[in-house]
Amino acid sequence: MKIQEMEKKFREIFGSGGDIRTWFAPGRVNLIGEHTDYNGGHVFPCALTLGTFGVVRKSMDHNLRFFSMNFEKKGIMEATLDELKPDPALSWANYPLGVLWAFDEKGMHADYGFDLLIWGNIPSGSGLSSSASLEVLTGTILRDLYGFEIENEGIALLCQHSENEFNGMNCGIMDQFASAMGKKDHAIFLDTATLKYEYAPVFLKDQKIIVTNSKVKHSLVNSAYNDRRKECETALKELKKAMNIKTLGELTNEEFENIKGAIPDGIRRKRAKHAVYENQRTIRAVQALKQNDLKAFGQLMNESHISLRDDYEVSCPEIDCLVETAWRVKGVLGSRITGGGFGGCTVSIVENKAVKEFERIVLEEYKKRFDKDGEIYVVDIGGGPERLA
Ligand code: GLA
Repeated sequence: MKIQEMEKKFREIFGSGGDIRTWFAPGRVNLIGEHTDYNGGHVFPCALTLGTFGVVRKSMDHNLRFFSMNFEKKGIMEATLDELKPDPALSWANYPLGVLWAFDEKGMHADYGFDLLIWGNIPSGSGLSSSASLEVLTGTILRDLYGFEIENEGIALLCQHSENEFNGMNCGIMDQFASAMGKKDHAIFLDTATLKYEYAPVFLKDQKIIVTNSKVKHSLVNSAYNDRRKECETALKELKKAMNIKTLGELTNEEFENIKGAIPDGIRRKRAKHAVYENQRTIRAVQALKQNDLKAFGQLMNESHISLRDDYEVSCPEIDCLVETAWRVKGVLGSRITGGGFGGCTVSIVENKAVKEFERIVLEEYKKRFDKDGEIYVVDIGGGPERLA
């Protein structure tokens, strides 16, 4: 889609005239470090060149009007600055509305409303953070439109806050941070306990990052996600009786093994084990990448998947099929589920020369087992949010 097409549509929908501006904010793929971001652990995501585009114009009153080119049938949805509260009828517009609410709460009041038209090229429900990209897009637009003083990191935090409190999804900081802080050809090694981060170059000459979309999204995703969080919180409370820690991310694998008996319930013990081991794996994976040891990096991705499948139990048969088939393809260095789980996408590192075979074998097997057409995207690591026009 060209920006001009979006601007043309904007005029058709909302009328012409005025100062019309266009922004972009990326989605993300997480290379490793899954379900660690609300456990004080490390994550290693990167921003994508895919994301959400927004065309916007200030209005003269307090009215807010939203239109999505991805969901044209929904038509224009309307809200007002005078009543920033969630409304199921507003569907996706609850995300930008939530960000307005979060800014407002922090004393950053928008004095005029706006018209916003969006279009995104992240497949929705794929686990590539279309909602975080929409939130960060909104945060960036608000900063630029109203001159609010806030850094990208602050935008990420407000967007997470709005998703937690306004949209009822108790997510960690990874997605919004990856979108707001993205850097071309770099992944972000983020310590979620301190928000200290480091950019790690990912210049793959002979390999590609491939995202495979299962196109399934099992229901109860949000409630299962919130359940996992609670299980980890309870496990942490139990471990605190054995050791003075603030988060699961502080533990080494050995320390965990020594004190895990403090968690009486077997399921909770598995959940905590994943959080601890996955964090350590992420630290090791970044070291491996720095040493250009992609083989070790891929191996850790595979271990991450096994742990998410068996201990954290956030995979599903469709995703396991995509990952386990990928593991059997020659030239695949690593493959795992990515994002929150229960469907969505896998991420794989694949030798350039094996990409075609990968695509054929994985999609054929998936079709055979589930009678579904998966989708493959060779992705590029992009930068953070930006004004385009
Ligand atoms: C979702 C959440 C993130 C993170 C991942 C799992 O994407 O939004 O905060 O917890 O799941 O790693």
